[in-house]
Amino acid sequence: MGFNIFYMKQTKTWFSEWFNTHYYHILYKHRNHEEAKVFIENLTTFLDIPKTHTILDLACGKGRHSIFLNSLGYPVIGADLSENSIEYANQFANKNLKFVVQDMRKPFAVKVDAVFNMFTSFGYFDDDNDDIQVLKNIADALPKNGVAVIDYMNVSKVVPNLVAQETIHRDGLTFEIQRSVIDGFITKQIDLTDAGKEFHFLERVKTIDLEKFKDYSVQSNLKIKHIFGDYNLSNYNKTTSDRLILILSK
Ligand SMILES: C[S@@+](CC[C@H](N)C(=O)[O-])C[C@H]1O[C@@H](n2cnc3c(N)ncnc32)[C@H](O)[C@@H]1O
Repeated sequence: MGFNIFYMKQTKTWFSEWFNTHYYHILYKHRNHEEAKVFIENLTTFLDIPKTHTILDLACGKGRHSIFLNSLGYPVIGADLSENSIEYANQFANKNLKFVVQDMRKPFAVKVDAVFNMFTSFGYFDDDNDDIQVLKNIADALPKNGVAVIDYMNVSKVVPNLVAQETIHRDGLTFEIQRSVIDGFITKQIDLTDAGKEFHFLERVKTIDLEKFKDYSVQSNLKIKHIFGDYNLSNYNKTTSDRLILILSK
């Protein structure tokens, strides 16, 4: 019987394939373009970013936010560690929409006017200094007063409400999910069997709360300008908000 492990660890070369797997897209297919569009519309309206300003979509995945931002008229660069995702996204590229393979811990080759880091695309690294380095790289890519958006889960709500075990049925498949907090990371193990083959996935995201982000921002010379708690840009509430959305400025 087959036994595949996709372990989300940056040191493993196949890490990024986790995001491309067939099963990942079945499990998370409700995270669709509509959700991305509403958030982008709310953000660009609130931030009042001129249409001439270039936006870096950092850890863009398959480019859903990049593509929509570009359709609104913005020049956009989508960057991601996953070569497969960038290859997929490249079918949507045009003269104002470029996609590049980039490890966000490494210095960026581009200067931009705004950086968007969407949908919990942060907090993967064991060493806090790597998270801080990502923020420093963002700051370096921005001009004075340039803005960055970090869209993270609200760990202050997620952790106390963690559902330890869950079974999800989707597209004829049964996903058995187990969640726990281990060493400061929310860990999600996903098991399923498809056509007699077993698959085991592990996701890990660091429990970075607002206090820790405040510390990170000081260390990376970014200032927190606004804090929102959902994609409608409602005020952040530590106990009730689903998201922790930070608007940072240099
Ligand atoms: C949760 S997905 C979100 C993707 C996209 N922002 C979206 O909302 O559809 C996180 C993304 O982070 C990317 N990623 C993980 N580690 C990275 C790194 N070190 N540098 C750049 N991208 C990374 C993954 O490849 C994946 O596409």
